[in-house]
Amino acid sequence: MRAGQPEEEGKIFVEAEGREGTKRQLIERVAIVGAGTMGSGIAQVFAEAGVAVTLVDAAPTALQWAMAAMERNWSRSVEKSKRTPAEVDSARSRIALAHDIAAVGEADMVIEAVFEDVATKQGVLRDVDRVAAPEALLATNTSSISITQLAAATERPGRVIGMHFFNPVPVMPLVEVVRGLLTQAETVARVLACVTRLGKTPVEVHDFPGFVSNRVLLPMINEAIFCLQEGVADKDAIDAVMRLGMAHPMGPLALADLIGLDVCLNILDVLQRELGEDKYRPAPLLRKMVAAGKLGRKSGEGFFLYEG
Ligand code: 3HC
Repeated sequence: MRAGQPEEEGKIFVEAEGREGTKRQLIERVAIVGAGTMGSGIAQVFAEAGVAVTLVDAAPTALQWAMAAMERNWSRSVEKSKRTPAEVDSARSRIALAHDIAAVGEADMVIEAVFEDVATKQGVLRDVDRVAAPEALLATNTSSISITQLAAATERPGRVIGMHFFNPVPVMPLVEVVRGLLTQAETVARVLACVTRLGKTPVEVHDFPGFVSNRVLLPMINEAIFCLQEGVADKDAIDAVMRLGMAHPMGPLALADLIGLDVCLNILDVLQRELGEDKYRPAPLLRKMVAAGKLGRKSGEGFFLYEG
């Protein structure tokens, strides 16, 4: 299989060589379900790549919030002369908003980006499966949940795949492409080509809890929280050690705030439960902060305070 070149704006092609010869497949329209931080970022990068996007969320405020986030990013990129106002207008014009899940019916690929919880994601995928075109691909942006388990909620497990984007989506170059047990090779090839056309780098991994990214990242963040809890150092010192000593762009506590402390907790719970090892046990301080509603940047306070 090899990725083809785009021949028309707004179309992503992959040429798949099968027994019946070479056939062209197309991802012309995507639908994204869930207009939180990740869904909004994913919508932005697809629209910028020339693909028609339908962003779906039942909550009216979520759609408004997502568009405001994109507008902030676009204003910044125009100010810095990274995009022209005309390019921004054209990206914006490709985005349609919808509250009803039925709006995914036209899409060639539907990307689920709702809250990191098995039952919630399965419910959304089940609903999407009922209304999406029969040949549409279903991708999930889960951070840690088994693709095979999520695919089992649908009648098309061969066309279900993990497409794990990183926050902030417009900036981070990686998409972890996760193949479930039943994901077909053709689905993988189409998604790899699609990620490349977004200007991002796909890395293919197998379906294990947390994949590679979060299985490696979250124990580090968790250990930083244990250090804070045990008084090894204060929050600024812990982050400074990792920034200045290990050249991380931000410290682990600031990164946890960026990801969302509730999301970090959910991922650690999945790792501990599914891999059955206590080394993934979430720090009690993390649990306490989530219970107190200190979720990081999105709530205005996590390990650090965020104004505005
Ligand atoms: N949305 C869009 N763009 C953003 C942004 C955001 N939220 N935050 C920063 N940017 C852009 C800025 O506009 C700027 O763009 P430019 O280069 O075109 O001017 C660029 O990013 C750099 O931003 P800043 O100069 O303001 O700040 P920094 O240089 O400190 O970079 C950062 C900010 C990109 C967030 C950097 O600190 C970083 O890379 N941090 C690590 C992020 C990371 O590890 N993400 C992965 C999290 S794990 C995950 O998402 C997986 C999930 O499953 C948990």
